[in-house]
Amino acid sequence: MARLVTLDAGGSAIAGPTATLIYDDWYPALRSDQLRGKQMVTAMLLDLPLVLGRKTGGEVFAMRDSCPHRGIPLSHGWFDGERVTCRYHGWEFEPCSGQCGTIPSLSSFDRLYATRIYASAYPCVERDGYAWVYVPRAGAGRKLEAAELPAVPKLAKYSAKFRTAHLTADLPCNVDHGIIGLMDPAHGPFVHQAWWWRSRASIREKTKLFEPIPEGFRMAAHAPSGNSAPYKLLGVYGEPVETTIDFVLPNRRYETIRCGPKWFTSLTTVTPVTASTCRIDVVAAWNVFYNVPFVTPIAKFFGAKFVRQDQVTMIQQAEGLRHNPSLMLIDDADKPAKWYFALKQARLDGSGKHPMDGPVELHWRS
Ligand code: FES
Ligand SMILES: [Fe+2]
Repeated sequence: MARLVTLDAGGSAIAGPTATLIYDDWYPALRSDQLRGKQMVTAMLLDLPLVLGRKTGGEVFAMRDSCPHRGIPLSHGWFDGERVTCRYHGWEFEPCSGQCGTIPSLSSFDRLYATRIYASAYPCVERDGYAWVYVPRAGAGRKLEAAELPAVPKLAKYSAKFRTAHLTADLPCNVDHGIIGLMDPAHGPFVHQAWWWRSRASIREKTKLFEPIPEGFRMAAHAPSGNSAPYKLLGVYGEPVETTIDFVLPNRRYETIRCGPKWFTSLTTVTPVTASTCRIDVVAAWNVFYNVPFVTPIAKFFGAKFVRQDQVTMIQQAEGLRHNPSLMLIDDADKPAKWYFALKQARLDGSGKHPMDGPVELHWRS
């Protein structure tokens, strides 16, 4: 896996200011192929320490990495494929429900029913190679019924045969900066300069049509930038190429490129690890060049380079953000960022008010 670790010169993580976090939704905790055998793997989502694993039957689980008895991380204990045992006093938990089964210290004089005790366990679903965890607000009560939860994000695939790749990178900034970096059209020619992508000299005026979708917005289907090499490559099929980019709360960017029967899709998420740091994950699927060897490693190589360029820029940005400067969002290039903040506010205050009344054309040079 392309894992890009973020450390500053001194070796310690750097971080900017904190962001308000969106709870009660699904976030990718880690790649689910890490969950095998009787291993327990830790992860952090929205400042919540988690321990994840896979039961013998294949079911994945995510618990708060904290014993409800005295708080020692459950990841220090044991997992036999069915039960997680705390290493301090040996309480045993069924990890999908969090239900306690055994408290070894109970004697015949005790009236306590171990099964009335629950460790915190969160809904956990394996999809597109991730273990997605539903992260509720603190104090939201015990595990919810699957039917009450929002849908787990899904990468679209348009044929039975396809290839996939994924990458991940830690970003030393809060989730809002990670997300607006994701939808920022104006940084491309400066951050992503490369012979195989585009150069500064190729900057030209763009007009893009955006339309509101539930909790997000769509950059409507259009012929993609003629000035970028990967799209030129797609053109070899001789059919019109159309792309759609959707942003949906809390943190998802879906891209679809279709060209006749050929397609490429990606799902990019920027997930809060803590209130001041985040992680970008990209998973892509395609049937373009399906039979050409080495396309997957080449795609991973270029994809990793691309994400690395964003990452390096955000490390530099974090240097500046540490001193709490005041910032700007300008029209039209930063309009999607403004919509993001308005959508997020509407989710947080429960108003559900969409910042767009209808389709809008935006203009910028990139
Ligand atoms: S702290 Fe876990 S059993 Fe006591
Ligand atoms: Fe970028």
